[in-house]
Amino acid sequence: MCGIVGYIGNKQAVPILIEGLKKLEYRGYDSAGVAVYNGNDDNINVVKAKGRLSVLENKLKTYCPDGMMGIGHTRWATHGEPNDVNSHPHASQNGIIAVVHNGIIENYMQLKEFLQSKGYCFQSDTDTEVIAHLVEYNYRGDLLNAVIKTLNDLEGSYALGVICTQCPDEFIAARKDSPLIVGIGKNENFIASDIPAILKYTRDIYILEDKEIACVKKDSVSIYNILGEKVKRDIFHVDWDISSAEKGGFEHFMIKEICEEPKAVKSTLSPRLKDSKIVLDNINLTKEYLAQLEKIYIIACGTAYHAGVVGKYAIEKLTRIPVEVELASEFRYRDPIVNKNHLSIVISQSGETLDSLMALREAKKRGARILSVVNVVGSSIARESDNVFYTWAGPEIAVASTKAYNTQLSAMYLFAIDFALKRGTISVDEAKKYRNELDRIPSLIEKIVNDREKIQKFASRHYNAKSIFFIGRGLDYALSMEGSLKLKEISYIHSEAYAGGELKHGTIALIEEGTLVVCPLTQESLFDKMLSNIKEVKARGAVVMAITHEKHALMVEKYADIVITIPDMESLLSPIAAITPMQLFAYYMSVLKGNDVDKPRNLAKSVTVE
Ligand code: AGP
Repeated sequence: MCGIVGYIGNKQAVPILIEGLKKLEYRGYDSAGVAVYNGNDDNINVVKAKGRLSVLENKLKTYCPDGMMGIGHTRWATHGEPNDVNSHPHASQNGIIAVVHNGIIENYMQLKEFLQSKGYCFQSDTDTEVIAHLVEYNYRGDLLNAVIKTLNDLEGSYALGVICTQCPDEFIAARKDSPLIVGIGKNENFIASDIPAILKYTRDIYILEDKEIACVKKDSVSIYNILGEKVKRDIFHVDWDISSAEKGGFEHFMIKEICEEPKAVKSTLSPRLKDSKIVLDNINLTKEYLAQLEKIYIIACGTAYHAGVVGKYAIEKLTRIPVEVELASEFRYRDPIVNKNHLSIVISQSGETLDSLMALREAKKRGARILSVVNVVGSSIARESDNVFYTWAGPEIAVASTKAYNTQLSAMYLFAIDFALKRGTISVDEAKKYRNELDRIPSLIEKIVNDREKIQKFASRHYNAKSIFFIGRGLDYALSMEGSLKLKEISYIHSEAYAGGELKHGTIALIEEGTLVVCPLTQESLFDKMLSNIKEVKARGAVVMAITHEKHALMVEKYADIVITIPDMESLLSPIAAITPMQLFAYYMSVLKGNDVDKPRNLAKSVTVE
């Protein structure tokens, strides 16, 4: 999704804006631009271009506006095709105002008609341009007031940066349902959509809440609510290092992040695996609460949703509480049956996914308690939840989520074991067995990552495949969904995931000579059934890549074309490690096809619009 950076201070703004935007590239974008004011000109200077930041940088080589206050933007098109004109920043009619915006203004057509009736002419097809004109229309010598007045007329979501020629010593930022932080420096201040953009300059930030407005000067930041009243905000200190958000010698963020999985899982599990017990921070779900709990809804999107599917299998198996897994975008519009006896677990790496945030609010409105599983500290989903379980995966930059998924699964297992023990549906000894097994997992993933060459070689023989199927049973089916998503989002190869038992109901018609089928076999109780499924597809000419425990390698080799092994471990917990070969497979297929692995086409890291 779009990225915003803003600067005011004693340095030239353009290099800081460009550098910040580069750190936000992972969010996905199709065009970029900057607007800078130098305190003297009549107009704000805007330079923007369709395409990668390098295109904008080239344009800036010909003309680089000078000025120590500016706003920059990477755009992910929603209203109007990606082109130079539709790129942000957008200037107002008389050029005194420039605006960058992330989000969607739902009532922009009405506002546009109103502004047109007042003589305003529009240059672009975007919803954002109405904001620039409306701020100008409302401006009576006080930019803060003009922005607040404008916000009161906007329906939809926004993170905004607004500069004005009449106010050379300040700019205004605001947010609603779209992330925005304010970075506090010495004689300079910043705004950004995400922390990495400004981490080089400061570790102290304000996290803006919904419908808050910041007036940013070089030596002060004031925060207001939508009524224009001052709000007090504590400084949030960022304690992770910039190197976590850089490639550190790896060719792509995705492979770096896969290699970080052992560390990510360990950081997530270790603080919660105390002595022989599981301790879930301050998530105080008591025995009494869990005893009366009627149902759990797990709500999420994409990869986080797939983590939820694994969560359903694990939580239902151990706790005997019914669990429904819901796509956030469906849940919020289908009048769900939710009440105060239900727990909603919302899973999100970014904590800013709009569909998940809206579903959270829907569940909350209906009385459910909200427990979120979030990677980004202080994100919207974390702040609106009753309890938060932080996955300590560290920053995840590649659009394709990898290490966050393993840590989300870690959370699901911790919940399953903790809830089950409190409900008395597993014994202390069983809980201890799972606890000890979880403890081993980081080293098991490490082994898989170190053995990745075999997967690379296999990928080099199949990267021209037109269509690839993933089939599995039980937890391996849940795993297959994620393996298939990973492959399609970065390799652009058509792929589908099917339950092994469902093949004979239609899908098997698609298997022909040479069709590649990926088959995880990590569920002991379903092992023979899955072997039969492999035989079925082999009989139709499929090429099979199997993923199984070391102890089964010899047996599976009789049927599959290649067997990727994972260390022997409990079936229930195997998905945390068995996903890694699938992520590696997707990665190598994408690299071999020459794709932009970290920034796949049409996708954004943080989906902050509907
Ligand atoms: C993952 O590879 C995807 N890019 C995507 O499905 C992602 O998991 C989804 O958009 C949810 O994001 P979140 O975890 O930040 O809420």
